[in-house]
Amino acid sequence: MSDTAPRPLAATRSGPLRGRLRVPGDKSISHRALIFGALATGVTRITGLLEAEDVVNTAHAVTALGAPATKQNGVWSVKGRGVGGLSQPAAPLDFGNSGTGTRLMMGVVAGHPITVAMRGDASLSRRPMRRVLGPLKQMGLEVVEEGKETLPLTLRGTANLTPIEYVLPVPSAQVKSAILIAGLAAPGATTVVEKEPTRDHTERMLRYFGADVRCEQKDGLTRITVKGDAELAGRDVVVPGDPSSAAFLVCAALLVPGSDVTVEGVLVNETRTGLYTTLKEMGADIDFLNEREEGGEPIADIRARHSTLKGVAVPAHRAPSMIDEYPVLAAVAGFATGDTRMDGLAELKVKESDRLAATAAGLAANGVRASVEGDTLIVHGTGKVKGGGRVATHLDHRIAMAFLTMGLASDEPVTVDDTTMIATSFPEFRGLMEQLGATYRAA
Ligand code: S3P
Repeated sequence: MSDTAPRPLAATRSGPLRGRLRVPGDKSISHRALIFGALATGVTRITGLLEAEDVVNTAHAVTALGAPATKQNGVWSVKGRGVGGLSQPAAPLDFGNSGTGTRLMMGVVAGHPITVAMRGDASLSRRPMRRVLGPLKQMGLEVVEEGKETLPLTLRGTANLTPIEYVLPVPSAQVKSAILIAGLAAPGATTVVEKEPTRDHTERMLRYFGADVRCEQKDGLTRITVKGDAELAGRDVVVPGDPSSAAFLVCAALLVPGSDVTVEGVLVNETRTGLYTTLKEMGADIDFLNEREEGGEPIADIRARHSTLKGVAVPAHRAPSMIDEYPVLAAVAGFATGDTRMDGLAELKVKESDRLAATAAGLAANGVRASVEGDTLIVHGTGKVKGGGRVATHLDHRIAMAFLTMGLASDEPVTVDDTTMIATSFPEFRGLMEQLGATYRAA
């Protein structure tokens, strides 16, 4: 991905967006299905796997660890090796842009007596790994380059992990998941304590694969305990549509006059739907239709129509359930009337880019007044956005897609300096937007 030349693109004011469509599979669930499939005995079949670069890198990684992931007749399958049964790869594992793939796989490596080199692109190589290496080192993982805390890294796992109880210092589903995954291979019980609930796909899917995972709420904390020496059994997984990808289509429909869009089969697990709650508070005409369950996760068809929006205050405690959606919410907030205040955004600074700074800069470049005060972003919406600016994307797919959504309703086009990295999470983005009536032109 990082080797290709940048491909800028401009979003231009569009006519009404209309249609019913599906978005590709959820990224978080796709990574987990491949990884748990590799740790299970027997074959795991995955329907609807997200075929984006981040997930494909995880498929390559499990294959290199001895659990081949292949596709036949539209269905992926992973031939699992069992917890503790993966083998040393012949070459470094390259995770590209993906923090999720990297951190979850660190939990896998911890419980195997193998030495694994891990690397990624320039964005991933800047991201903090101490948050996951710290607890995994307590369990017995070794970092060969002692003291180093960013990729590239070489990790040495062990067949003799120690179970731990760990209170998460930051709300991170990736860190929680890495510890629980390592805990599968440790003797006894491994517990992660969360102060703020984060996405719970690991807990749900591990149970589905047969692990003993218990969640207990007490004194405002969630304690998640996995029983070690676990045996997982290969299962069939159906991956629901990604709500973080659907967000761009839904937001575009809200902004462009006359729009009426339905995105079918979207994951609506409440640890992921903070954006939709917020948009409804802003006055958005959004309905969850035909709510149902598929593969242990709630899904719905999301209908969104053009709406007049007002600014709101988004509480800090909602951040984990919409952490990837702040850039597009900020873009939408420019079209609302009044201030939208978003608190508790510290984690945004350590995503694929410093998303707080990148979002604020993109807004400023397009005539939207916004201020950053510590971990708070305030967008001063005036009901319309001038546009005309060029946004620096910093290798960040969600910055690119957020501003390519904003430009569909701004007075002048909005240009992003690169779109190649959109393929890390949502390669179909432009095609699906155009199918609804969105207009883009080369810039
Ligand atoms: C993810 C967790 C979140 C999110 C990321 C996917 C996951 O990251 O931003 O896109 O699949 O567990 P953090 O754990 O760093 O908050």
